[in-house]
Amino acid sequence: MVIATMTTPLPISLFPFLLLIPAICFTICHANSNLLCIQSEREALLKFKNDLIDPSNRLSSWVEGGDCCKWVGVVCHNSTGHVNQLHLVSSPFSPSALGGKINPSLLELKHLSSLDLSYNIFSSIHIPKFLGMLDSLTYLNLACTQFQGVIPHNLGNLSKLQYLDLRGNGVSNIEATSLQWVSGLSSLQYLDLSYANLSKATDWLQVTFKHPSLLELHLSYCGLEGLSPIIVNSLEGPIPDYSGNMSFLEVLDLSLNHLRVLDLSYNGIKQDIAEILQSLSRCCLDSLKSLYMADNNLFGHLTDQLGHFKNLAHLSLARNKISGPIPSSIGELSSLKFFDVSENQLNGTFPLCFGQLESLETLDFGYNLLEGVVLETHFSRLSRLTTLKASQNRLRFEPNPSWIPPFQCEIIEFSHWHLGSKFPQWLKFQNKLSVLDISDAGISDVMPTWFLNLPTQFEKLNLSFNQLTGEISNLNVTDTIDLSSNRFTGPLPRVLSSLRILFLSNNSFSGSLSEFICNPSISDMIVLFIDTNLLIGEIPDCWIQWRYLGYLNLENNNLTGNIPFTLGFRNLFMLNLRNNSMFGEFSSIMQTFVSLIMLDLSENHFSGSVPAWIGDELSNLVILSLRSNNFDGHIPQKICDLQVLQILDLAHNNISGTIPKCFNNLGAMAIKQKGYNKVFTPEIYDFPFYFTELLDEYGHTLGLVTSIDLSANSLIGEIPKEIGSLVGLLSLNFSRNFLTGRIPDNIGNMELMESLDLSMNRLNGEIPPSFSKSNFLNHFNVSYNNLTGQIPTSTQLQSFENLSYVGNHLCGPPLTKNCTSKGILTDATNNLSSSDGNKVNWLYVSIVLGFVMGFWGVVAPLFFFRSWRIAYYQKLDHICGKLYVFWATMDLFHNKISGAIPKCFTNSGAMATKFKHDAA
Ligand SMILES: *[C@@H]1O[C@H](CO)[C@@H](O)[C@H](O)[C@H]1NC(C)=O
Ligand SMILES: *[C@@H]1O[C@H](CO)[C@@H](O)[C@H](O)[C@H]1NC(C)=O
Ligand SMILES: *[C@@H]1O[C@H](CO)[C@@H](O)[C@H](O)[C@H]1NC(C)=O
Ligand SMILES: *[C@@H]1O[C@H](CO)[C@@H](O)[C@H](O)[C@H]1NC(C)=O
Ligand SMILES: *[C@@H]1O[C@H](CO)[C@@H](O)[C@H](O)[C@H]1NC(C)=O
Ligand SMILES: *[C@@H]1O[C@H](CO)[C@@H](O)[C@H](O)[C@H]1NC(C)=O
Ligand SMILES: *[C@@H]1O[C@H](CO)[C@@H](O)[C@H](O)[C@H]1NC(C)=O
Repeated sequence: MVIATMTTPLPISLFPFLLLIPAICFTICHANSNLLCIQSEREALLKFKNDLIDPSNRLSSWVEGGDCCKWVGVVCHNSTGHVNQLHLVSSPFSPSALGGKINPSLLELKHLSSLDLSYNIFSSIHIPKFLGMLDSLTYLNLACTQFQGVIPHNLGNLSKLQYLDLRGNGVSNIEATSLQWVSGLSSLQYLDLSYANLSKATDWLQVTFKHPSLLELHLSYCGLEGLSPIIVNSLEGPIPDYSGNMSFLEVLDLSLNHLRVLDLSYNGIKQDIAEILQSLSRCCLDSLKSLYMADNNLFGHLTDQLGHFKNLAHLSLARNKISGPIPSSIGELSSLKFFDVSENQLNGTFPLCFGQLESLETLDFGYNLLEGVVLETHFSRLSRLTTLKASQNRLRFEPNPSWIPPFQCEIIEFSHWHLGSKFPQWLKFQNKLSVLDISDAGISDVMPTWFLNLPTQFEKLNLSFNQLTGEISNLNVTDTIDLSSNRFTGPLPRVLSSLRILFLSNNSFSGSLSEFICNPSISDMIVLFIDTNLLIGEIPDCWIQWRYLGYLNLENNNLTGNIPFTLGFRNLFMLNLRNNSMFGEFSSIMQTFVSLIMLDLSENHFSGSVPAWIGDELSNLVILSLRSNNFDGHIPQKICDLQVLQILDLAHNNISGTIPKCFNNLGAMAIKQKGYNKVFTPEIYDFPFYFTELLDEYGHTLGLVTSIDLSANSLIGEIPKEIGSLVGLLSLNFSRNFLTGRIPDNIGNMELMESLDLSMNRLNGEIPPSFSKSNFLNHFNVSYNNLTGQIPTSTQLQSFENLSYVGNHLCGPPLTKNCTSKGILTDATNNLSSSDGNKVNWLYVSIVLGFVMGFWGVVAPLFFFRSWRIAYYQKLDHICGKLYVFWATMDLFHNKISGAIPKCFTNSGAMATKFKHDAA
């Protein structure tokens, strides 16, 4: 909740009086009980009710013969008795949302001045045209009502309308090809058309900026791209002076308005920010209070002009491509409360003048390129500051140990700063902190006890990538903790039962898991990473209460035993038990891990055969690693049913039999796309947004996403030629088996291949000439087989060392042995100096896969932290009702949602699927 509200620049409405109407009027309404409502209006209301679907009978007071002025949601004028307000607002995700149709009987309410149907769900109908005939309306709120289709032009007849909110909720349900009708709303002051598809309404800029009374304009997520709209030739009267393309500048010059709030965030506007400021300074220099243009494609530099907007209180330019320094004129913005330029390319220093901004409450310049030293004076007068986000800049801040900050922040994010080797003492005085990120800040200290006892309730705490030492018995954090990559020791800390995400990776926590896992109060945890610590003993069998566990990483400990039974029947996406001392056969309980994307049991002592049900039950697997165990038996054919598998590692076991011919069915590997493989998309998987982003990052970061390693087993028979159709494969290792026959011709067709190792088998024949096509090979080894003939000539094959070829009967470069004209060897002593050649190869391969796996331990935690910031703001913000975002999300995840599913979710295939599952 805190995060959602704090990261979102909630548009501060300038119309509190209008918004307060319902509250005021309910009291008035019940006071004047001597008035009876007008019969024709009562009948109209009953007709209106009849067409509505009212699942929870909210309108039960609306009955024949009653005094309609006392009905819920109805407000009558206190002297005339006319119905003048209808407030039937619902709330997001409310099961009591109204639906159905809007009966034109409303037209009977001649004095209706205020109509609020927001958050009800009219998802299959258009906005009724007749609303344009409710002449008396001054306030019309249809926000988040999911109406469809084109906005009726005759809304433009509402000449008294001051407030119009048609904000949508994530998908463009409504659209307009022109906003000409808005100019008819001659009293309009507030307009919100966010999420309406206005990509064809090229007149939006003229209409809204020429509008004489408009004060607040919200057009976020409207698909607006240019600010150089083409004039639409209107039939209604001549358009003065201008024709053809007009620039943003020109339009604003002609502008009549005194805009106070301009919200154009989440469009594709590509414009120089300097030009925008220049233009806005002509129309709205004194009036502009809020400018929201986050998430566009703005570029260029911030100019000193910014300092001239004296009344500017809210400025959001986050997630654009603005570069250059932050101008020091910013110090002149004495009204500035909210300043967010995060995720741009701003460089230079952090201007000292920020210290003068007494009104500043939110300061976010995270994820830019600022550098230099930050002083106490940078904050000297920021006594109102509650949010300070500045992560991922190269700034140094080492205040005097006795410094007492002038602010009491709720959010502080200084990741990647240099905060000095001592734990920042000034945090002692932050009594309202809820989110703290001082990860990767060069702190090398004992965890101070005062910090753990701060009288503050942390929601998120990130201390990762420092060198903190000491034991931690208790962590009073409600949602997320990241302590990874420090030097903490002792038993695992006790955590609050509400905690959802915990990273303790790469520390020296020791002892058994029992007390931690079996603590009956822990039930909401989604992510648990305790990899690379000193844990011992069995994984306890008491996971029953861990209802939501999705990601479990216990890699690199010394855990024993098998996978416990109670871990089953869970919606696990990731299970990583790599490099422990676990044993036993492939637990049948794993058949219940139907959501699993990554399974890593490698480097343990598991035994028995690889079960065929893997292909049926674990069909979402992207990564399957059983490397370095004692598995035996054959590779089941069913493994080929893993359609999205990208990494298959069965190396270093005792697996026998032949390589299944069906490998060409491994769909994901048959896609020829280097690096990021599109299989990693949210459409296929069924997990929270931030994990899809994580996978995204994973694909991009490593570039290596397709690999088969069956090395060091006892496989026999030939290499099936079907392997050659895995054209997306980047790494293939069949070495150290007993494979016979020839190298299939088409293996050379796997043009993206970076690493191929077929060494130490019994392959014979020649190296197929198709290898000359490979372009990316940087590791190649066919040593110690029974290959003959000339090494095909290509730029690549000749660049490898002799060691790649020794132990065969090969000739030609790079070997010194010349081929005869008939291809018969002239020299039979080519395997000299090869005694330790094979060691190099194993090393290489394990580096490749180690790298892949290491990602989950090191990069993943960092990413989780970063992605909240983005995910909560950018993605979840689509759901109607920003204040409810956080809880709504949790309810989705916990499957506790009731009532109608918001339409916008159809946008996200993954989530849609989830609903289907849950309904079933
Ligand atoms: C009726 O409402 C108006 C404002 O809406 C208020 O000024 C007036 O006092 C009210 N009259 C009564 C009798 O409540
Ligand atoms: C309402 O608007 C429509 C279209 O803008 C127009 O054709 C119609 O005449 C208007 N009706 C009234 C009563 O003004
Ligand atoms: C900021 O970046 C620009 C290039 O984008 C560079 O020319 C300029 O020197 C940088 N300024 C500073 C202070 O680093
Ligand atoms: C956590 O800290 C808050 C604020 O100091 C306190 O009220 C609460 O009791 C603490 N909870 C636990 C479990 O220690
Ligand atoms: C792991 O635990 C076993 C006993 O369960 C012990 O023999 C072994 O030395 C431990 N290994 C490490 C690396 O601590
Ligand atoms: C190597 O291949 C030749 C035929 O090319 C065969 O005669 C010989 O037996 C093979 N050697 C081994 C060790 O398999
Ligand atoms: C191999 O051929 C090259 C020229 O093609 C020749 O210089 C070299 O002496 C030959 N080496 C042997 C061992 O015959």
